[in-house]
Amino acid sequence: MEVIITQDYDAMSERGAQIVIDALRNRPDIVLGLATGSTPEGIYERLVAAHRNDGLDFSQAVTFNLDEYVGLGPDHDQSYRSFMNAKLFNHVNVDVARTHVPDGLAVDPAAHCAQYERMIRQAGGIDLQVLGIGRDGHIAFNEPGTSLGSRTHVACLTRQTVEDNARFFDDAAQVPRFAITMGIGTILEARTCLLLACGANKAPAVRAALEGPITSMTTASALQLHPDTTAIVDEAAAAELELLDYYRWQQENRLA
Ligand code: F6R
Repeated sequence: MEVIITQDYDAMSERGAQIVIDALRNRPDIVLGLATGSTPEGIYERLVAAHRNDGLDFSQAVTFNLDEYVGLGPDHDQSYRSFMNAKLFNHVNVDVARTHVPDGLAVDPAAHCAQYERMIRQAGGIDLQVLGIGRDGHIAFNEPGTSLGSRTHVACLTRQTVEDNARFFDDAAQVPRFAITMGIGTILEARTCLLLACGANKAPAVRAALEGPITSMTTASALQLHPDTTAIVDEAAAAELELLDYYRWQQENRLA
């Protein structure tokens, strides 16, 4: 795994956005895996700016989001579909029919999960998957204890995740307890993964994910098995990394 340490959130967003922009320019019909939450917002702002100012073209891109709350429809202001529309899709020239977010109102969630997997396969698989990380080491909503071979499924969020996400709702009672989420097995099939983390409250999770044992107790640790993952971590989130000096050393000594 390549680990890039950046000074702060803005620098993390800048590096992350550049990777997405380069990938999209190299392959206009890219299949992008996208995340919601606070962490990738800076990247989405930069993608929108690159579209407006430099003509970054999303017209042939296909997107699949990691997850959606069960019970929230696309019009709910806290649904992940709404988030993606507001932060990215409404401001670039992506074809909405090519953007996919799991359906939180699916009548048969299990069938919908299987269909989501089929749609990813039919699109040719995910080329670049953007990921945030939860304080409990989750990626997507693969909470501790989730099989590292899991596919898209309905997950019960932990109490901690519900509390963390309560900041977006009027109160914690309104946070859905379930989500449809890509599984770890699904994520590991992406050709490239981009893990982003910022802030001191993510430091223990980042340490466990990057340097701890590969375990379902920290589902992000499965990325250690992925052959092409880049983690971009700001100083605060990197503070507990044992190999911090080595990651910096690697950054200074890149092969040309
Ligand atoms: C969101 C997602 C989650 C978040 C994680 C971190 O689509 O899959 O795994 O990436 O909970 O959230 P933030 O970025 O809000 O700290």
